Amino acid sequence: MLLLLLLWQIQDEDISASSQWSESTAARYGRLDFEEGDGAWCPEITVEPDSLKEFLQIDLRSLHFITLVGTQGRHAGGIGNEFSQMYKIKYSRDGSRWISWRNRQGKQVIEGNRNAYDIVLKDLEPPIIARYVRFMPVTDHSMNVCMRVELYGCEWLDGLVSYNAPVGEQMSLPALPAYFNDSVYDGAVIHRCVCGLGQLTDGVCGLDDFTHSHVYNVWPGYDYVGWTNESFPSGYVEIMFEFDRTRNFTTMKVHCNNMPSRHAKAFRQVVCYFRSEADWEAAPLAFGPAEDEENPGARFVTVNLANRMASAIKCQFHFADAWMLFSEITFQSVKRCLPLSPRLPSPEDDPTHKIDDSNTRILIGCLVAIIFILVVIIVIILWRQVWQKMLEKRGPGRIPSPSLITCFPRCVPASASAAASKSTAAAAAAAVQDGAPHYAEADIVNLQGVTGGNTYAIPALAMDLLSGKDVAVEEFPRKMLTFKEKLGEGQFGEVHLCEAEGMQEFMNKEFLFDIPEDQPVLVAVKMLRSDADKNARNDFLKEIKIMSRLKDPNIIRLLAVCIYSDPLCMITEYMENGDLNQFLSRHEPEGQLAVLSNAPTVSFNSLCYMAAQIASGMKYLSSLNFVHRDLATRNCLVGKNYTIKIADFGMSRNLYSGDYYRIQGRAVLPIRWMSWESILLGKFTTASDAWAFGVTLWEILNFCKEQPYSQLTDEQVIENTGEFFRDQKRQIYLPQPVLCPDSLYKIMLSCWRRNTKERPSFQEIHRALLEMQP
Ligand SMILES: *[C@@H]1O[C@H](CO)[C@@H](O)[C@H](O)[C@H]1NC(C)=O
Ligand SMILES: *[C@@H]1O[C@H](CO)[C@@H](O)[C@H](O)[C@H]1NC(C)=O
Ligand SMILES: *[C@@H]1O[C@H](CO)[C@@H](O)[C@H](O)[C@H]1NC(C)=O
Repeated sequence: MLLLLLLWQIQDEDISASSQWSESTAARYGRLDFEEGDGAWCPEITVEPDSLKEFLQIDLRSLHFITLVGTQGRHAGGIGNEFSQMYKIKYSRDGSRWISWRNRQGKQVIEGNRNAYDIVLKDLEPPIIARYVRFMPVTDHSMNVCMRVELYGCEWLDGLVSYNAPVGEQMSLPALPAYFNDSVYDGAVIHRCVCGLGQLTDGVCGLDDFTHSHVYNVWPGYDYVGWTNESFPSGYVEIMFEFDRTRNFTTMKVHCNNMPSRHAKAFRQVVCYFRSEADWEAAPLAFGPAEDEENPGARFVTVNLANRMASAIKCQFHFADAWMLFSEITFQSVKRCLPLSPRLPSPEDDPTHKIDDSNTRILIGCLVAIIFILVVIIVIILWRQVWQKMLEKRGPGRIPSPSLITCFPRCVPASASAAASKSTAAAAAAAVQDGAPHYAEADIVNLQGVTGGNTYAIPALAMDLLSGKDVAVEEFPRKMLTFKEKLGEGQFGEVHLCEAEGMQEFMNKEFLFDIPEDQPVLVAVKMLRSDADKNARNDFLKEIKIMSRLKDPNIIRLLAVCIYSDPLCMITEYMENGDLNQFLSRHEPEGQLAVLSNAPTVSFNSLCYMAAQIASGMKYLSSLNFVHRDLATRNCLVGKNYTIKIADFGMSRNLYSGDYYRIQGRAVLPIRWMSWESILLGKFTTASDAWAFGVTLWEILNFCKEQPYSQLTDEQVIENTGEFFRDQKRQIYLPQPVLCPDSLYKIMLSCWRRNTKERPSFQEIHRALLEMQP
């Protein structure tokens, strides 16, 4: 279960359409947040009500489990104003049978966009399992429609394409009867349900009490498909499962209800038959689950399928009581390994052309293998070149939204499948080192710092205002810098910790150092690699311009620059206690434990004081409409007496590479600090900075001893993001730290509100934090 894939990754030829208005509005321009061509896919003619002729089609190349879709209209920098107010979705698993998607209430039409630019996400309930998906604009009057779309989901590893089961039955109960029909089944229903998938694969597990459901406004028994032994004289229910190809099966998991009071129980025995080629194999597999009398409640029963090979499986589930109710069936199979070398025709295949010399056979085998390997290498090289070109062409500011296909776990609460988060750290480390461009939003001037990280992002308008004035920093003589250590590095350069002599003379008069004149000053020097291209140089100069205007006691100050000669440098303050993350990791809360271990301590009040300074610095940034995008303790520096200044070096530092996640080779993102809308929609605002502030506050109260969501993998963090979007109370919040009083935890929770407008401003946060201090 992994997040994967999106339209952006899909080849142009896999996005097609019923028609196109022009070459520049072809199907391939229908990707979400994609601004090329004329800015969207537009069909050839006006869309008429109820015509349903036009569609945009995506071929995912294999079956996918799709849980979310996003749509957007044609904006084209303000020229376009076409969008689809409504649409329908059709999907297909084989490319021939097309099924109209309906929600759980049976409705097909999905509400789309209200303007040409906002992205609208829609939860697919039930989810779609398909290889092909079509978006079909729907209108109530004749109108021009254009669309950009996105799919979110993951590969359907079960490989199941259909199950055929007897129609579910009805149970009389004292109040309302319970209906166990398969209400979202997408195949044909006659005596049996055939050729479709439905509730047994919709990712919703039934509750212990089958008369209730998580799903809103449905009848009793909704989550389950069930049968009574009265209708099955043979004593069993037979279900047939068909798969996309022959697979090597390890297990089948059946989620069964267990309510002895209502005579519902898991099965007594299951007998499975396997078909790999044309015929059913003679030897079935029988399995009897262990009786578990003490534990009522719904559960998964795991059936060991003993590595049997099959493209179809037929299972007879024997009743253990009067009723048998299933809500979900999943299959696990061994990942297919491709043969290392192509299979050679064996000499026996062709009696007229026997190759007797075994040496020749070996030689041919080796040659074929070598050619095969060469082809693979060439393909990889070509692919990498194309990939790099695409990245270059896009440039740092032109990367579309992350548009993940996130996979929501099927019935498994994310917390239950905890895994070591560190396992991804190594991969992320590699990602950060080779300096993938940082994520950027289209209408924001992205500052690609030398380190590959963005500094601050500001609206284009503010940028114009700023560039009117002169840069108020002076050139600093390079020779007066003494290298101390490397703080980090990225795609475009490095950050060094240096001592600067005579810095005081070069500083603004308004800005006073509390250091004697004759002592060297600790500074951070950001350096642009001398071979950096023109764009990187321009961005670097832009960053200088912006940095030079940031003047706040809680923001790292730009002191001087070296721009007369290469390499270009930017000299900023650095603080003697390093970053807040390392600083707090070295300290302990006041108390017994600290006394015993003799560790240095920080009082609760000092923690609050530091947090308030961060809020104050952010208040300043937000007043200028600056969005930081990477607020975290690793990006705050600590000086004397717990003074704090906000910086932005985090991303370039190997030490923190585990805090960043790389999305499909495109962007490196601090996902554990990011709001749901930043991850799913690529929206970065002051409200998403507030979210990150909440996480930063959580880190502080934990003395940075733990990474946020440390028990979740990166993929699970993104799954959790999906839950924040869905807002069905399944999202996991960071827990209240031991040291953290309720009032402070309330501030954190308010930063993580789903609705961005309900999150507090930095002004409010700052005020609340000041009030916390005695
Ligand atoms: C399932 O049963 C419910 C309740 O009787 C009914 O409303 C619904 O239409 C049925 N669905 C199908 C697909 O048979
Ligand atoms: C199925 O997978 C298992 C485990 O990887 C392997 O040992 C076995 O040989 C496979 N069976 C076949 C027929 O490939
Ligand atoms: C169905 O199961 C119940 C409970 O085990 C049993 O009493 C009853 O005889 C069974 N009915 C049939 C037709 O097998």
